[in-house]
Amino acid sequence: MDKTILNHNYRNQQPNILATFCAKAARLNGIIDLSIGDPDFTTPKEIIKEAFQQANKGMTHYSDTVGLKSFRNTICDYYQKQYDLNFNSSEVLITTGAEHGMYILLQAILEPGDEVIIPEPCFSPYIDQVEMAGAHAIMAPTSGNDDFKVHSSQIAKMITTKTKAIIINSPNNPTGDVMDDEEMKELAQLAKDNNLLLISDEIYADYIMPGHHFTPLAAYAPSNTVTINGMSKSFAMTGWRIGYMIGPSWLLKGAQAVNDAITFAAPTISQVAAEYALKYHDKISQPITKELLRRLQFLEKEINALKKFKVSPIGGSIYAFVDIRQTRLSSLEFANQLLNREKVLVIPGIAFGNSGEGFVRVAATQKMSVLKEVIKRLQHFEMQLS
Ligand SMILES: Cc1ncc(COP(=O)(O)O)c(C=O)c1O
Repeated sequence: MDKTILNHNYRNQQPNILATFCAKAARLNGIIDLSIGDPDFTTPKEIIKEAFQQANKGMTHYSDTVGLKSFRNTICDYYQKQYDLNFNSSEVLITTGAEHGMYILLQAILEPGDEVIIPEPCFSPYIDQVEMAGAHAIMAPTSGNDDFKVHSSQIAKMITTKTKAIIINSPNNPTGDVMDDEEMKELAQLAKDNNLLLISDEIYADYIMPGHHFTPLAAYAPSNTVTINGMSKSFAMTGWRIGYMIGPSWLLKGAQAVNDAITFAAPTISQVAAEYALKYHDKISQPITKELLRRLQFLEKEINALKKFKVSPIGGSIYAFVDIRQTRLSSLEFANQLLNREKVLVIPGIAFGNSGEGFVRVAATQKMSVLKEVIKRLQHFEMQLS
């Protein structure tokens, strides 16, 4: 047997920048890893305890393919309480993480040749997933000179007869931008006027910096929006693999059909744990989100005090997107040199698309004492550059 057995897309894969970097870091001793968006906390004990107890009571079987009804109801209650948005459980589908939710939705809506508009820089799996469905990812570049703001007027110009959807990720990974309400309203109108689907990945919705404000996109275009969300970031539950999507029930039926064929249902015991977590959202999530936002504020202030680096204004998320253009290094060179000389691992902005060039992403996923050390190393690095 030879490589021709593989689909041509996977025969000669281009090295993935993110994966290459993380593999390199894994080989080095004593590095400070600020690369991956996985909060450093272990899942809160009471969530683990609940899962353990429910497993012992027999919650070890398949759940309904759309997810546990009680969990879907809890999600509806949460959106009502938190955002004053009313959904019913037929408008909620439980997925095996937000990333899987995006995949099954795209598989359900896209046909070969369709186009999906994605503001860039972006979470790179979006592009792969659109292409896996045979469609084209149409990138809408944003600029560091404009704080990576997404403008609906720019998106409007990119709409063609083939456009089916627009993927919005606010608070944004990697830029930290939170979309303004006015822009959201315009985008909602655009979707309604052009019969388009807005796919709103709101996985960082709980990470809003003081003085900023977040509204779910579904508030403005409920019939044209599918919200993608999950437990990974707000509850330090990345390994439990639970996400969910909220949208028109007829549309979710398509995603459910794809889900039926590939995983059947999300893990039951993780759903039970997630339901418990969301029921006690404020009490359980706030200590995590508050701490990460405190660290982000620290990073923003301390990095901005350095001469050659500037943080793109952070509205939310768990990342600082740092402007390194003054160093005249490419983001790849910068990240490589920082890793080799100072043993600090960050992600080059180019990994998120061409408009991320000139920036590096720093995740606030290490404790404060470690971040203080990072600032010292950045100071040292900066001095060597001049
Ligand atoms: C924007 C965005 N969406 C989705 C995910 C993945 O979420 P999940 O762990 O629920 O699959 C990530 C993880 O980094 C992310 O940054």
